[in-house]
Amino acid sequence: MDPAGPFALATMSGMGLLVRDFRADDFETLWRIDQECFPPGISYSRQELKLYIRRRGTLTIVADSEGEIAGFIVAHNGPTGHVITIDVVGKARRSGVGSLLLEAAETRLQAAGSRSVGLETAVDNVGALSFYKRHGYSVVGTCSRYYSNGVDALVMRKELPVRDKGAELRPIDQS
Ligand SMILES: CC(C)(COP(=O)(O)OP(=O)(O)OC[C@H]1O[C@@H](n2cnc3c(N)ncnc32)[C@H](O)[C@@H]1OP(=O)(O)O)[C@@H](O)C(=O)NCCC(=O)NCCS
Repeated sequence: MDPAGPFALATMSGMGLLVRDFRADDFETLWRIDQECFPPGISYSRQELKLYIRRRGTLTIVADSEGEIAGFIVAHNGPTGHVITIDVVGKARRSGVGSLLLEAAETRLQAAGSRSVGLETAVDNVGALSFYKRHGYSVVGTCSRYYSNGVDALVMRKELPVRDKGAELRPIDQS
């Protein structure tokens, strides 16, 4: 897969879902989704979200369901990549959109050299905790009063599997 090109095309459960890179004209929709996904104090201001998306080393991937954005993920690369936020619209939850976005981001981070991925989530975000655990993340610490509404964060981390570069070059077995 070419990480620089249009990212991936995936169809899941008839949803006609396209996982693609962020485009500038997505911004307002992404900000609105973030407002819906998180309470005040955890959701980002327009300026904050814009800064994260524009930061060098950031990747923003959008799940596009026939022209309607079903969710997005913002992540930052580095030896330990970092999930800044993952947001799926209410009506599209529990249908695999979040998993698709997280897996796409992990693949991109790994291709950019990340060996692990870290993130923070609010201690009372039971759904997110369950989602991340399902994806192999473990709680490695807590950050007291991490969010501006005073809520503590759980720090989670996942080691990415080592990429077997040889596997990509191995010829197809024709026996
Ligand atoms: C967390 C979030 C991204 C998950 O997205 P999603 O598209 O609903 O997730 P998936 O459908 O891929 O779920 C995969 C698995 O994760 C777990 N999971 C997801 N949401 C869950 C919930 N609310 N409660 C319990 N388990 C949950 C389940 O094991 C689920 O598999 P199942 O549906 O077969 O039981 C989504 O709920 C969301 O956007 N929440 C609001 C924003 C947020 O909290 N973001 C994360 C913190 S940064």
